Amino acid sequence: MSRRKISVKTLVSMAGSGERIVALTAYDYHTARMEEAAGVHVILVGDSFQMAVLGEETTLGASMDVLVAHCRAVRRAAPSALVVGDMPFGSYQPSDETAVRNAVRFIAEAGADAVKLEGGNPAAVARVQAIVSSGIPVMGHIGLLPQSIRAEGGYRVVRSPAKDELLDQLRALEKAGAFSVVLEMMEEELARELTEASSIPTIGIGAGRFTSGQILVVNDLLGMNGDFNPRFLKKYADLSSIIGKALEDYAEEVTKGTFPGESNVFRRRGDQN
Ligand code: KIV
Repeated sequence: MSRRKISVKTLVSMAGSGERIVALTAYDYHTARMEEAAGVHVILVGDSFQMAVLGEETTLGASMDVLVAHCRAVRRAAPSALVVGDMPFGSYQPSDETAVRNAVRFIAEAGADAVKLEGGNPAAVARVQAIVSSGIPVMGHIGLLPQSIRAEGGYRVVRSPAKDELLDQLRALEKAGAFSVVLEMMEEELARELTEASSIPTIGIGAGRFTSGQILVVNDLLGMNGDFNPRFLKKYADLSSIIGKALEDYAEEVTKGTFPGESNVFRRRGDQN
């Protein structure tokens, strides 16, 4: 079934009318195809790829080449969703020019609709402004910033004393032209106050119930990693058990010689059932 193309304007009008925005990450064609069919509005090809898919401790090693390739696959699978390329660490920090060059790659090479970058400090806001000025929509990201893990020393919930600073960052991102903003890992009341003060849609992860929309890392939601159980996560499936059982069954059948079976083999012409 074909559905309406989601644009940045669609998100703004959804938030304005109180319709909640459904966002998820995806990194591959088949997952993105299922997300598109499920009606997900925004698909982020996140630098969380580095942790969720490659099993690293941080997102810091994510690369433009890899994310652009995965973004292209996601775009092909999800023509209607708003596909957002997540700018990895090092792809925008050095200068406005670097930021624009890499943002252009997501649009031109991968067919993304928009890019996302982390931070609300003056340098990050300048990058947002430069990319928006080049005609590319930008999603901001404030609160917990995984790319700043080395400076922060850990992944911690952002609490109310940071409110004024976050409000300033939100204002600066709005002024720079960001079309929406991710609020990551903060007290629910704080995210609610930021959302109420915001003229652009807010997409929460670990930010409670009152943002304009929600995003999760799809591998987490599907329970691919049985050991990852943070408070903000709800697992909608237990794929680690399902896949684990399928793999054990396969190993057992190969060991016993019951796979391949009669129905899985090619017979000499004329002998095939
Ligand atoms: O990379 C990512 O998946 C993200 C989300 C957590 C918002 O930035």
